[in-house]
Amino acid sequence: MIDDPVLLNDWHVVGRVSEIAIGQVQSIRLLDEDLVLWRNQDGIQVWKDLCIHRGAKLSPGKVKENCLVCPYHGWSYDSAGLCRFMPAHPEQRPPPRARTITYQVKEQYGLVWVCLGEPVKDVPFYREWDDPAFKTVPAGPYRMRASGPRIIENFLDVAHFPFVHAGYLGDPAHTEIEDYEVETGPESVVARDIGVWQPDPDGSGKPARVSYTYEVLRPLTARFSKFQGSQVLSMIDIVTPITETESVAWPMLSTNYDTGASEEAFINFQDVITAQDIPVVESQRPELLPLDLQAELHLRSDRTAIAYRQWLRKIGLRFGTA
Ligand code: FES
Ligand code: FE
Repeated sequence: MIDDPVLLNDWHVVGRVSEIAIGQVQSIRLLDEDLVLWRNQDGIQVWKDLCIHRGAKLSPGKVKENCLVCPYHGWSYDSAGLCRFMPAHPEQRPPPRARTITYQVKEQYGLVWVCLGEPVKDVPFYREWDDPAFKTVPAGPYRMRASGPRIIENFLDVAHFPFVHAGYLGDPAHTEIEDYEVETGPESVVARDIGVWQPDPDGSGKPARVSYTYEVLRPLTARFSKFQGSQVLSMIDIVTPITETESVAWPMLSTNYDTGASEEAFINFQDVITAQDIPVVESQRPELLPLDLQAELHLRSDRTAIAYRQWLRKIGLRFGTA
């Protein structure tokens, strides 16, 4: 197990609830651990991908009679991870030690969340999800060969819009970033009233001057609300750390107005934006986000990123940082 209590005791997304049917078994990876994710009549189970008998992976196994059956010698494990049947000795009752390592699982926002340790908090709260004024759609998942903290820092960065997202979220004729305020609390970083001129803020193709409020909710979860008068487009980006340099982003986007685009076109717009970000974040070196502010250079316009790095250092994040 990795040496990072902050991430071990946090929740991470490993899939969409709707994409895991009863009887299905998947091999997944989270925080450098191989896990098996499967579903039976009792719900979704996530365990260490290891059979205690001879260390075979359980993920190539099958679900039979509500149990997960190891592909090597057929031991059957129930929802609690207890071995119920050893085919070589059908009459023998499996010893209590014959059990798998199980993890806590939660379903929220249509996503499957796993905690490898003891959760210190609930999953991050996304207020738009239950707000009838907003329509929320999931985008991604987007896989990136980059560390989680590098991806979140990119999400918080507005100065790259005119270069990476020219014609969409930024305009090469409007590169200057006005000053804005950042507040760091024990639980979060908030940056308010960041004004940006956008040629196409929401895929509708209508240019506007927008104002962003960003919030870091967890080490690897951040959100923004983008205001155009009373129209609000919100987005939460939930990043799952697969390894220190490989991650999957599970964003959700919400609007309290009609962009005029179909849901498919709206998600496609996000796919285009993300495809522009990926080569940049994958190119960044060092791959791990340096928390020492002496490494790399910082401008006034980087103050959200500076606050994010300082906050990560304060809460003791290690995985994906240097
Ligand atoms: Fe799983 Fe033997 S290794 S049953
Ligand atoms: Fe971007």
